[in-house]
Amino acid sequence: MKILGYESSCDETGVAVVCTEQGLLAHGLHSQIAMHRAYGGVVPELASRDHIRRVLPLTEQVLTEAGLSLDDIDAVAYTAGPGLNGALLVGASFACSLAWAKGLPTLPVHHLEGHLLSPLLAEPAPEFPFVALLVSGGHTQIMQVDGVGQYTLLGETLDDAAGEAFDKSAKLLGLAYPGGPALSKLAEKGDVTRIQLPRPMLYSGDFDFSFSGLKTAVLTALRKMEKEQNTITDQDRADLAAATQTAIVDVLAIKSLKALKQSGLKRLVVAGGVGANCLLRTHLVTEASKMGATVYFPPIDLCTDNGAMIAFAAAMRVKHGIQTVDHNASFKVQPRWDLEAVAI
Ligand code: KG4
Ligand code: ZN
Repeated sequence: MKILGYESSCDETGVAVVCTEQGLLAHGLHSQIAMHRAYGGVVPELASRDHIRRVLPLTEQVLTEAGLSLDDIDAVAYTAGPGLNGALLVGASFACSLAWAKGLPTLPVHHLEGHLLSPLLAEPAPEFPFVALLVSGGHTQIMQVDGVGQYTLLGETLDDAAGEAFDKSAKLLGLAYPGGPALSKLAEKGDVTRIQLPRPMLYSGDFDFSFSGLKTAVLTALRKMEKEQNTITDQDRADLAAATQTAIVDVLAIKSLKALKQSGLKRLVVAGGVGANCLLRTHLVTEASKMGATVYFPPIDLCTDNGAMIAFAAAMRVKHGIQTVDHNASFKVQPRWDLEAVAI
């Protein structure tokens, strides 16, 4: 079965074709980063309009790349949430209109399930069961994953997500949107030993996180430097970037490895945009190997939002008999939607 999948929950338009037997056949992505940069963050209305502009040319591009025509497609999948309402509606209405015109069934997909299963697109793919650290711009969760659709939440952030902590701290350091990759790059030049930032909830005894205090700590450190030195140099900013990145990575690593230990499992999967962070990757691999555990990541270009993970999650749900294809042309999107709602 060949599934055409759409992702449009935020600022990336993603389209892909996945075959339930052969895997990923082709995928295409348009990132709106350059467009939103001038505003310092995603402008929802602009995001929706740009998805409209991109979705048809990307569909043609992906089908050509896969050597397929619409007549070869068996079902159309789309991100039904969570995400920006208008942006979700573009992908969902396009996918459902296309399906309706071609008499095809549709498959609504939970965006986080897409991220969660995306490491299965890498080689070697992890086997079930595993513990997953899901770290994106909007979510930070630790889950136990026993199979497709079998998700148990072990812990999550009580306020800001890890990606949000990167982005907000980066903004305070004067870095362009999106802050995560920019802060990580600046941190390479920084002295990580100079500034100590708090690691909230590290010893809370559970697997929950709290990152909202970090941006305040970064702001306080900046003000202190300004007061003491009358100026803030590029080196100051780099040192603070290094301290911020290490604080976030430390908390994520310590909590996810504790969860892994408690589960008795030996496989940790990292997914979501922050999973592209080099320090998080190397630190987790080193620490996990000390426990005899292996860490799995999605292919680096599939860490941030993309259509491949959506088409793939749909294919996995169909393959495992969890989701039946829907011939009803009506649809709805859910800007807020817990992953556990799609668990079996
Ligand atoms: O998963 P994603 O593409 O979108 C959401 O579903 O939210 O994640 C985007 C987040 C942003 O906060 C971005 O700053 C962060 O992932 N990110 C990074 C890196 N690349 C992306 N954070 C730290 N280091 C990176 N290399
Ligand atoms: Zn995402």
